Amino acid sequence: MNSQASGAVPEPSFEPATLRPHFAILNRELAWLDNAATTQRPEAVLKAMAQFYRRHNANPRRSVHRLGAEATTAYERARLAVAQFIGARSADEVVFTAGTTAALNLVAAGMARWEIGPGDEIWVSAAEHHSNWVPWQQVARAMNAALRVIPLLPDGRLDVAAFRKRLAARRTKWVAVTWVSNVLGAVNDVAEICAAAHAAGARVVVDGAQGVAHLPTNVAQMDCDFFAFSGHKMYGPFGIGVLWGRQEWLTQMEPLIFGGEMISRVDERSAQWAEVPARFEGGTPNAAGAVGLAAAIEWLRGLPAAAHAHVNQLAREAAEQLAALPGVQVWGPREGRVALVSFSVDRVHAHDVAQVLDDRGVAVRAGHLCAQPLLRRLGTPSVVRASFAPYNTRDEVARLVAGVRAAQELFT
Ligand SMILES: Cc1ncc(COP(=O)(O)O)c(C=O)c1O
Repeated sequence: MNSQASGAVPEPSFEPATLRPHFAILNRELAWLDNAATTQRPEAVLKAMAQFYRRHNANPRRSVHRLGAEATTAYERARLAVAQFIGARSADEVVFTAGTTAALNLVAAGMARWEIGPGDEIWVSAAEHHSNWVPWQQVARAMNAALRVIPLLPDGRLDVAAFRKRLAARRTKWVAVTWVSNVLGAVNDVAEICAAAHAAGARVVVDGAQGVAHLPTNVAQMDCDFFAFSGHKMYGPFGIGVLWGRQEWLTQMEPLIFGGEMISRVDERSAQWAEVPARFEGGTPNAAGAVGLAAAIEWLRGLPAAAHAHVNQLAREAAEQLAALPGVQVWGPREGRVALVSFSVDRVHAHDVAQVLDDRGVAVRAGHLCAQPLLRRLGTPSVVRASFAPYNTRDEVARLVAGVRAAQELFT
């Protein structure tokens, strides 16, 4: 049935060539299919950061001079832009961090650790990145609590029904779950997980690192307690990320970085913390990074819906074409895949596949993708991952598939 016959609105086409001039780095023989590791940055982001350094550079929130005020304004405007981007109630709920990893460690060590005791349970999902696994493992170890794992369905999505069933009778305090798996590309129903966890009296932190560039983000709709993401995976700079938390939890969370500007008063033997979120941002903040992140948000907001449909179409086509190759195993669900595809090639090491692809100007990621527990469950030590952005093209998908075939010919 065609889309008109079915009554559906046909997807508007999107032309990636219109975006490529925004990315000087792509002006070479390069198919950048490693966007899940880090995206490239558009000129708008680079310009905003350069402008900050050229015109407004000062240490924010400290100095009364003019540049200090300008830097503070730029930094706090960026916070507001983030709050609006993720549907936060207030900019005060936005804590700037160095990235997702730093954000998840902050909530694990600054809050969960104080609430969890012997015999309590923390749940992570089988699909977590090490950044959302190891901090919880460490809390569980330190507090003599149990670490439980939300299992996977055969297609790679989380088995939320099994989670819900097992959760009910337990002493679950925290649930740490990824929105989009960095290996499987599966989108998890985090709202459903939050609802189940809350019904059991637990709090939920969502790792949004692989979601924010591709899906509309609304922490209120998700109804999570904390949400973490990195700027560099959504066209923003390295070294800046966000921990969003509900105001009532942030006021209960302990800071982890002690020092300048995170206090309201210091005596010889004690200190009082500054208001939220400043108390979590001890030391000189990455103001240029925050400004760059705000520019990335603006750039991302300017993308038409068709650009996102294009990204998912590339991932779908890549998955289908790779799955059609004999000896290639594609991981993750057939439907509901976002922006990436991971695969294994029989009798060819993932690094060899990546090397052959690199020789052909196609950049992919290979290895355990910081998800060793997941790969063990899949029964493979390493995978190859191609991940897409709106500047990628169908021709690049064809080059990816041709490169995989070339690796098969070379190594088998
Ligand atoms: C799902 C997920 N969580 C967390 C991270 C860690 O992000 P960062 O290294 O920016 O802290 C990544 C990065 O690959 C990721 O894909």
